[in-house]
Amino acid sequence: MTSVGIDAIEIRTGKLFLDLPNTFAPVKGEDPEKYTKGLGLYTSSFPDVYEDIVTMGANAAKSLMDRKGLEPEDIGRIDVATESAFDNSKPVSTYIAGCLEQVYDGDFRHANKGERKFACIAGTQSLDDAYNWIKAGRNRGRAALVIATDTALYERGDPGEATQGAGAVAMLIDEDPDLVELSTEQGYGSMDETDFLKPNQQFPSVDGKRSMQVYLARMREALEDYESVAGRTHPADFEYIPFHTPFPGMVRKAALLGFRHMSRDTEIEDELADEIGRQPREADFETWDDYEEAIRGYMDDLKTTEQYRDWYDRVIDPTIDISSRVGNWYTGSVHIARLSALKIAAEEGKEMAGKKLLVGSYGSGAQAEIHAETVQDTWLDEIDAVDVDSQLEDRTEITFDDYELIHDVHNHEKEIEVEEFTQPEGEFVFTGWGRMNERRYEYVE
Ligand code: HMG
Repeated sequence: MTSVGIDAIEIRTGKLFLDLPNTFAPVKGEDPEKYTKGLGLYTSSFPDVYEDIVTMGANAAKSLMDRKGLEPEDIGRIDVATESAFDNSKPVSTYIAGCLEQVYDGDFRHANKGERKFACIAGTQSLDDAYNWIKAGRNRGRAALVIATDTALYERGDPGEATQGAGAVAMLIDEDPDLVELSTEQGYGSMDETDFLKPNQQFPSVDGKRSMQVYLARMREALEDYESVAGRTHPADFEYIPFHTPFPGMVRKAALLGFRHMSRDTEIEDELADEIGRQPREADFETWDDYEEAIRGYMDDLKTTEQYRDWYDRVIDPTIDISSRVGNWYTGSVHIARLSALKIAAEEGKEMAGKKLLVGSYGSGAQAEIHAETVQDTWLDEIDAVDVDSQLEDRTEITFDDYELIHDVHNHEKEIEVEEFTQPEGEFVFTGWGRMNERRYEYVE
């Protein structure tokens, strides 16, 4: 059987950053600890005047192609996942291919291009599409380029404003991958929900609290569905569990739920019984409300136990490091969670070859998906080559007033002229609109 998975990853962050506890919170009259302790966010990335989903996606893809020594004819498919698209017909992948064709000799004339939409889970769905295309033997030896790119902006004053971010993740999907192999088994939790949507509008309508409940409910269903094909999961099975990370506090909730589920009827539940009792069973309660209240009590106790804390620090905490510094990247978010964990494993000198990850993706609207991944022997070379720290460190800090300006620059309803904050160098930039209202790009040396 051919092994298929992620061969390489590159990211591109928006080049500006806003300090949430020190710049944003004071202007909003909020306690900085809401950000650091509550949401788990320190800074968020924003795109400069000349950046957008196309430039970030094309810049990430170019880094990836250059690093892997690829030419356009090596790529048979370009899938872009985004919920920030600006055109209902022409896909962002055509713009990105057009950018890349400015700098490579060949072209992507024979590559299949598309755009995937299902809120944040579209990035993982694009991975699936590429995986299936290769498994079906339709790829003619070529690889797929999957690009998850978003400017996650909310209406000013919306509670979601706290969780904004902007960036792209480019992934090469190929046979005999160098980074991780994807499992055939996967589980879904999917339901028609009205928690976060953009009905022909740029900024989302959000029911924040409901969106968190829906995230947890669909994630639990996806885990049960995954177990129905892959067998029961146990907390010790996975080295890391990267989740979709709208903000790290959301992942803390998902992790606790996951640990409770995975440790039920195991020696972990037995060991914890003296300290916090056994997990409540539905059959022992007269009403659903009583059962739920008992579950909440058990979870409150569970999160204080040493077993849970140790597991969380080892398996979950490394996945949220990058997110805490860039905010929500929507479709790219779960993919930076994986990268964050593997980057920390590399820094700690951990041997990861053959180890398993459990990946939990989510998109509002709503759907969760869970699959496993096996880390490949060559993982370390791949992760060492990804440039994350310098990109994050090189970002330019903006004041609150600058933030409002940059938010207006990227607001499709507004037309304002603002000087760029940084100088483009060796990258694709947005240069303005063409005759048919198309967006135009060029490569700046
Ligand atoms: P909010 O009302 O601004 O914040 O909304 P809050 O008052 O609920 O505080 C947030 C947390 O900080 C709470 O923690 C507070 O207790 C804590 P929790 O109780 O939930 O554990 N807190 C503090 N902690 C310590 N010291 C303090 C302090 N103050 C408060 N002083 C909300 C937060 C997330 C709802 C809002 O930002 C929002 O609407 N965000 C957008 C929606 C979202 O991100 N939803 C997540 C799930 S849906 C999803 O992931 C999909 C998505 O990515 C879109 C897609 O799929 O396309 C969004």
